Amino acid sequence: MRILVIGGAGYIGSHVTRAFLDKGYDVTVFDNLQTGFRENLFEEANFVHGDIMRPEQLGAVMAGGYDGCVHLAALKAAGQSMLHPAEYSHANISGTINVLNHASAAKISPIIFSSSAAVYGSPQYLPVDENHPKDPENFYGFTKLEIERLLDWYDRLKGMRYAAIRYFNAAGYDVQERIKGLELNPENLLPIMMEVAVGIRPKLSIFGDDYPTRDGSGIRDYVHVSDLAEAHVSAFEYILKQKKSLTVNLGSQAGVSVIEMLERARVITGRKIPAEVTHRRAGDPAELVASSGKALELLGWVPKYSDVDTLVSTTWKMYEKYVIR
Ligand code: UD1
Repeated sequence: MRILVIGGAGYIGSHVTRAFLDKGYDVTVFDNLQTGFRENLFEEANFVHGDIMRPEQLGAVMAGGYDGCVHLAALKAAGQSMLHPAEYSHANISGTINVLNHASAAKISPIIFSSSAAVYGSPQYLPVDENHPKDPENFYGFTKLEIERLLDWYDRLKGMRYAAIRYFNAAGYDVQERIKGLELNPENLLPIMMEVAVGIRPKLSIFGDDYPTRDGSGIRDYVHVSDLAEAHVSAFEYILKQKKSLTVNLGSQAGVSVIEMLERARVITGRKIPAEVTHRRAGDPAELVASSGKALELLGWVPKYSDVDTLVSTTWKMYEKYVIR
């Protein structure tokens, strides 16, 4: 089976590529290497350097013929999306329209799409299941929701099957340390914590300790990226078998607070990790936890690596070589 992974050199994309390779698929990665890394390319996978904004490049790669396509190429910083909506609509929405039109012309189906918990906005109840109202609080989430709606129309009008996979907080690195690229200027909690641990940043800001949570800090549902990756393969196989599209949450269903993550990180890294409580970050809900019952039921998906210690230790393995003494 031949799979095209668009955005396969990025953080999640490289883990997804690894998961398909591990299951014996023939994988081609298509990436513009803007935020992806050359070090994340595997010898066993083909690589095509190209951009979803260049229709002729998409057309050329898709002419190769594939049994399915995973589409992860996108801009993903929620805060930045509020400042630069044009860039986000261009890269995420227009880019995906290019992907869908070329996939449809080349008769490539299904499309496995990286969606996000950001489509829900602030939770009205917990845990958040797939039927929760969709009311994105940032433009990034809006782009993901618009793409899901496009996918639904392409399914209805062109018979193109899809999986929209709504990630909660992706974290961690491959336990076998086969992924080499480290994200630059990370904006998420765990990599920021690791940058403090190695001395790249002086301290961690805890964005608020006055939320109505057990210790006052924000609670999120962290899910290991290898567990996410595995679900892409399962979703692809589900669609091949069932011949119908699918929208699922992927989270560990366990909430972890910023302070709990920090305390485990201090123990696991053996580093001090200075931290101070600062003001809340605009748009941050107190708590966001997924219901992943649907992924469990339909895909048999059970996260294996999403416990806090594995999340922290696999991330620390990537960062410890950068310790500034
Ligand atoms: C982020 C994205 C969201 C995306 C999700 C999954 C933002 C605002 N949100 O969610 O759109 O769907 O990733 O990829 O970018 N925190 C600190 N100090 C820090 C950084 C974070 O206390 O320096 C706290 C936050 O307040 C939050 C938790 O850590 O409670 C996680 O934050 P983060 O890693 O940025 O992810 P989210 O904001 O949950």
